[in-house]
Amino acid sequence: MIIAITNSKGGVGKTTTAVNVATSLAARGRHTLLVDLDPQAHATRCVLEAETERNISRFIMDRPSQATRAVSESTLPNLDLVPSGADLTETAELLSARIRREERLSRALEWVSEDYQHIILDCPPVLGILAYNALIAADLLIIPVQPGVGAVVGLDALLDATRELRDEEDIAYRILITMFDIRTTRTNAIVDELLEENRKRMLKTVISKSEALNQATLASKPVKLFAPSSRGRHEYDALCDEILRLRPR
Ligand SMILES: Nc1ncnc2c1ncn2[C@@H]1O[C@H](COP(=O)(O)OP(=O)(O)OP(=O)(O)O)[C@@H](O)[C@H]1O
Ligand SMILES: [Mg+2]
Repeated sequence: MIIAITNSKGGVGKTTTAVNVATSLAARGRHTLLVDLDPQAHATRCVLEAETERNISRFIMDRPSQATRAVSESTLPNLDLVPSGADLTETAELLSARIRREERLSRALEWVSEDYQHIILDCPPVLGILAYNALIAADLLIIPVQPGVGAVVGLDALLDATRELRDEEDIAYRILITMFDIRTTRTNAIVDELLEENRKRMLKTVISKSEALNQATLASKPVKLFAPSSRGRHEYDALCDEILRLRPR
């Protein structure tokens, strides 16, 4: 299954979720591929030591049949990576002039998907050509939402863009509450509102606001390695289990 971790809003926990779900799946023995679609390359730094020529630009710009050449082994067992790199912004511009430009990722993934049980796409915080490629390629969208003012702004635009790109009305998506802070009542009101409108689409697992997760991501480490007994690690393991039980539609 190909899962895009996406939200056009920045800083909501997309990369933290992509990295920790991917490492948790890999730790359960699942062959997993993490694809970093963000020029900031943060997910890449969490699971790769040195920069490599094999990267997402090669993955989406070269012929799809050459896609495996752009895949790298990560520092963890069962986890491979299509790394991002500084040239991805330029690649996105070049992509705009290509034929079937929104389908390039999907076509490249067809050539590697047999090797993996799970493929996780870490999307950039912009609803542009790179995100469009992910929205078309994914079987399921996981949309991290940080409760707070304007938490759901952009959600409808994201879903509408996906419907238009895929020419499908029924989009498989789930909402993940991230950075949940039990102490803030305002936060809870927003979660209630989300629940009301998207009851069937909410993931049961909630990711709490946690210093361990914050520090792990800032240190470019999966929380499993950075703080193995932290609550954040257990919450992402629980999320991984929930994902393994999911029937997207
Ligand atoms: N559960 C959490 N508790 C506390 N801090 C968190 C949590 N999850 C993520 N963070 C912190 O919030 C910030 C944003 O997280 P992250 O980079 O995962 O978001 P993002 O949506 O990928 O951002 P961008 O839109 O820039 O790609 C980071 O500094 C990270 O350390
Ligand atoms: Mg990110």
